[in-house]
Amino acid sequence: MSAVDNLAEKKTPTAVLCGPDTGIAFVGCGYVADFYAATLPNHRLNLRGVFDARQERAETFGAFHKVPVYPSIEAILADDSVEIVVNLTNPSSHYDVSRRCLEAGKHVYSEKPLALRLDHASDLLELASRRGLGLSSAPCSLLSETAQSLWHALRGGVIGQPRLAYAELDDGAIHQMPFQNWISISGAPWPYVDEFRTGPIMEHAGYYVTWLTAFFGPATAVTSYAGLLVPDRLAGVDPGPPAPDFACAVIEFASGVIARLTCGTVAPENHTFTIVGDEGVLSVDDCWNFGAPVTVRTRADSARARHHYLTGPRTYPLVRPADYPHRYTDTHDMDFARGVADLAASVRGEGRQHLTAEHAVHVLEIVLAMARSAAEPARVRIDSTFAPLAPQDWATDQFEADVVALRS
Ligand SMILES: NC(=O)c1ccc[n+]([C@@H]2O[C@H](COP(=O)([O-])OP(=O)(O)OC[C@H]3O[C@@H](n4cnc5c(N)ncnc54)[C@H](O)[C@@H]3O)[C@@H](O)[C@H]2O)c1
Repeated sequence: MSAVDNLAEKKTPTAVLCGPDTGIAFVGCGYVADFYAATLPNHRLNLRGVFDARQERAETFGAFHKVPVYPSIEAILADDSVEIVVNLTNPSSHYDVSRRCLEAGKHVYSEKPLALRLDHASDLLELASRRGLGLSSAPCSLLSETAQSLWHALRGGVIGQPRLAYAELDDGAIHQMPFQNWISISGAPWPYVDEFRTGPIMEHAGYYVTWLTAFFGPATAVTSYAGLLVPDRLAGVDPGPPAPDFACAVIEFASGVIARLTCGTVAPENHTFTIVGDEGVLSVDDCWNFGAPVTVRTRADSARARHHYLTGPRTYPLVRPADYPHRYTDTHDMDFARGVADLAASVRGEGRQHLTAEHAVHVLEIVLAMARSAAEPARVRIDSTFAPLAPQDWATDQFEADVVALRS
């Protein structure tokens, strides 16, 4: 294979096979585990086996996906062929499971949130760095073609200096939908009690906080309102109150950018993202679609009328096509295993980790501040920070320049 072919190949999500795949194991075989299983073939990942505290769930999942079931978490930790544990348990178990795995010398990829408490997340970060282990957290949608293209446009100055972002993550009035009947392809019911108890701030705000912080750097303060608008959504099912089902926050960034972030499960689905800069506006209609088009409107040469100071919308081309073959489109079109693959590549020494643990801790601090500010209410200062994240190689101009140079 020529060098040009090699580079072209790197531009597709299915990497060139050049060594053994990384051995991974799932802890947690519920609803989201099917999303990961469906997208594993896109990557150099070898699922050695799975474990769930509910044995029958693990066995159903193992039989469906034809993977072995471990009898215990200790059995995973004792298996040298497993390098990364993928923690797909419920949020309340994330800290304990991740900690045990790191203590046993395993790299960890955790579903979000990294933990439910900031001190727990910081503890995981400290443990991983002390032991020289990789630790990464979902969401991995920052690695999507859409997010990488947005970031490329921002770096290229397409809209000039960014000033303001609007991020919407309303997920529809779930209490008016037949959510009790939702099941994954291997038969796991959607865990609505846990979802409603954890709430959309902890479950969903992180998707856009990850993008915002990657693009605009560390946040310095959060002011938020949160409320429980449909308090009886678990009536007769769970005695405890659900978490707030609506939140709206203003996030201030050290770079001067201001973002408004809304999330909830009351208003109709709206996953749109808009960034306003001095020279134009960038937008995306769904952060849960890895190949969602990016639209740009720039400052019109002559402002013909008061409301026509921008050109009509044009498509900003994706930096590469989002044509990965294995998809899980029942809910959202996301390549869930891409974050695990990113950690695996860094564990194999093939590149840096793009979703760092330090960044995941910062994201969690912002998400927790959204909840805290709403409860107090107050403007909550954000103390943590993180080293700037790197874009994917295939989304950099240097990569494009290398391809052109090699072709000429
Ligand atoms: N449900 C979704 O649509 C969705 C989408 C994206 C991300 N997520 C995230 O994925 C994670 C899991 O969610 P889910 O929907 O799959 O939940 P789920 O309840 O369907 O599955 C979680 C599984 O983890 C197991 N588990 C819990 N604690 C454990 C422990 N200590 N050891 C071993 N197994 C344990 C449970 O028995 C359960 O089978 C959450 O962090 C959630 O935020 C969920």
